[in-house]
Amino acid sequence: MNLQIACHQLFLENRRHKGDFQYTVPSPTTYPHQWLWDSCFHAIILSHSNTEDAKKEILSLLSKQFTNGLIPHMIFWNPNNQKNSKFWGQNGTSSITQPPIVAYAVWEIFKKDKDIKFLEKIYPNLYHFYRYLLNERDPHDKHLIGILNPDESGEDDSPRFDALLGLKSKHSFKTNLNKRFELVKKNIDCKFDAPFCMRNLFWVKDVPFNSIMAENLKILADIAKKLDFDDDANYFVKQSEHIIWAMRDLMLEDGLFWSTYGEDYKKIKIKTWAIFTPLFANILTHKEAEILVEKHLLNSKEFWTKYPIPTVSLKERSFSDFFWRGPTWIGANWFIYKGLLNYGFTDVAKDIKNSSIRLIEKSGFREYFNCQTGEGLGAKNFTWGGLVVDMN
Ligand code: GLC
Repeated sequence: MNLQIACHQLFLENRRHKGDFQYTVPSPTTYPHQWLWDSCFHAIILSHSNTEDAKKEILSLLSKQFTNGLIPHMIFWNPNNQKNSKFWGQNGTSSITQPPIVAYAVWEIFKKDKDIKFLEKIYPNLYHFYRYLLNERDPHDKHLIGILNPDESGEDDSPRFDALLGLKSKHSFKTNLNKRFELVKKNIDCKFDAPFCMRNLFWVKDVPFNSIMAENLKILADIAKKLDFDDDANYFVKQSEHIIWAMRDLMLEDGLFWSTYGEDYKKIKIKTWAIFTPLFANILTHKEAEILVEKHLLNSKEFWTKYPIPTVSLKERSFSDFFWRGPTWIGANWFIYKGLLNYGFTDVAKDIKNSSIRLIEKSGFREYFNCQTGEGLGAKNFTWGGLVVDMN
């Protein structure tokens, strides 16, 4: 299989238009709408072949930004298609967000075509989105960004959220979904007022979300500097540093970063791929990174399976071969790959890249994969496999 060609074909098939807008659906049947972090992945992938298409993906995503700055995690361009419409919120969108990887995606495009006009055009959107997260999602000024619903993490049914939803470590997907529906109903009742929803219903400071935020604030500062907004650039660099310090202060214990919940920042000690995401934002020292990789990533009893990296450690009771509770996702692999390169672990990174390619060659563009057999699972014609073109 020529992966570049297969990926190009997949993206053409999943491309949709609405008025002047162009976007890509993650999977035509299972996920027929536009999603936030998916579109950022799409833009990163497309930036390798056609920066104009990559920019269109970002423009459609930003077109539904709320006046308070939130970028919604789903846009329902075709309201007749009711699939996944449980989060129906404002203006044909969901009213919750997803990991803030959009500045990174924009910078990847800019690095390739140096289109400063595009940066100028979308800078206000980026500025307001990250300001929204800093202001609304950190009401106590602790410098950790909160999520108000598991789906905001991008890992809808991750076991990190089980206890907070009142779930045992083993339960059916339906039970999990019902709990999340209940939370959405309550979110709707409180009008998605973030500080209120977080304080009263669900308040997680998630490790991947904050790692992605810290890295993206650094990139946003680079974007601001390019546009001669030096004060903004200084501000965003500072905010990134604050998050990194807060993560070290409130999440780190015995070498591992744990997501926290509630007003007193209790740690959620469920070992998932999230423990590797601080590598993506250079939050660990080199020594800490070395121990993390040796002791956990390359440990065949935890994360080093035949087709790494499982999203949940094999040792966790909750581990299964379903959705975000164990299988390998190429998106998670991509974050870890980039993180490993930050620290010079090029051989391990290469292994992850090769294994990701093997998964696609064996099982096609599937949503996720059994980490031991490589069997393709979940949605078909799923776009995230395209991220292997960015593992370079
Ligand atoms: C699932 C994933 C989420 C993704 C969406 C669309 O809900 O958990 O991360 O954004 O599908 O692909």
